[in-house]
Amino acid sequence: MTAMRQALLDVAELSVAFPGRNGPIRAVDGVSFRLEPGESLVIAGESGSGKSMLCRALMNIQPGAASVTATRMDWQGRALGALSPRDWRALRGGQMAMIFQDPAAALNPLLSVGRQIMDVVNAHRACSRAQARSRAIEVLGLAGLPEPEARLASYPSQLSGGMRQRVAIALALAAAPKLIIADEATTNLDVSIQAQIVALLKRLQRELGLGLIFVTHDLDLAAEVGGRLMVMYAGQPVETGPVQTVLKDPCHPYTRGLLRSAPTLHSSRETPLQPIPGQTPKPGAVGAGAPFRSRCPVSVEGVCDVRRAPWSEAGPGHRVACNRFALDGRGGLP
Ligand SMILES: Nc1ncnc2c1ncn2[C@@H]1O[C@H](COP(=O)(O)OP(=O)(O)OP(=O)(O)O)[C@@H](O)[C@H]1O
Ligand SMILES: [Mg+2]
Repeated sequence: MTAMRQALLDVAELSVAFPGRNGPIRAVDGVSFRLEPGESLVIAGESGSGKSMLCRALMNIQPGAASVTATRMDWQGRALGALSPRDWRALRGGQMAMIFQDPAAALNPLLSVGRQIMDVVNAHRACSRAQARSRAIEVLGLAGLPEPEARLASYPSQLSGGMRQRVAIALALAAAPKLIIADEATTNLDVSIQAQIVALLKRLQRELGLGLIFVTHDLDLAAEVGGRLMVMYAGQPVETGPVQTVLKDPCHPYTRGLLRSAPTLHSSRETPLQPIPGQTPKPGAVGAGAPFRSRCPVSVEGVCDVRRAPWSEAGPGHRVACNRFALDGRGGLP
């Protein structure tokens, strides 16, 4: 028997809850996944589906009021729950790094680019000033900044949005992490710059063997990134599988609705776009039952309002949590 490769992240039944008037409100509810070294996981879903809370919980940077629970949450075989604040400081930035939608959140406007990157290098490895400087030049080059040495003296305000995001990526790479979490990292950028940043992340992933968690609500970008896709709705994962498979053969009514509601390369030109009727429920309003039931065209009376759907196999590595699918298979779906 061949030994299973050790996952970078192995997470089971991860939930993030906030205190509410009538008990805890789950912003993330029962997320499980395994991410191998060098793999990518794309997380997609509408605003408020819990994507950022999930990423924050993985990095242990959730808001103070939030409580994170999981039956398993291992980083390279080590339980994250057992880490001390000091271990977390070494892991965060050192082994796993996050890139945010707004590079301003990651960059200090008062410090030069070079100084900020050298500070991260120095925080995670013992090295001389000259070594930290050459590492800063190296990661700026990796992040695709032209004339990286000349950029050391630049301040964030002197750079364009796309260049600032490249600096944020260089900062994330500074300590040679094994995992990058990009939370809507390209959302604020022009479409052509978005494509460049995604191409950059994919190249880095390939060349450096990085694990990548890529959060987006843009399914074309999801397809571009590749790897596995997890679709989330109201805090719950509803469908997961290889990105191309899920986009070609979506099995959850929500995934289908998402694909019909957004102009993507996967939507056919003949069918007009159809927004999903209704609104995303507020966290806490989902209760028991299937989270999408109030907007679902194929919800099963007496089932979806009381039972959260079990996972069904829709194909190799492709799973869907839908009561209709569990009861009737594909035949039940429009
Ligand atoms: N500090 C907080 N206290 C209580 N609830 C919160 C807090 N922060 C976020 N939430 C709730 O958690 C839910 C998930 O939010 P999250 O930011 O993870 O969504 P998201 O999927 O990242 O959305 P977006 O696409 O807009 O970034 C939201 O519905 C929000 O109301
Ligand atoms: Mg978010």
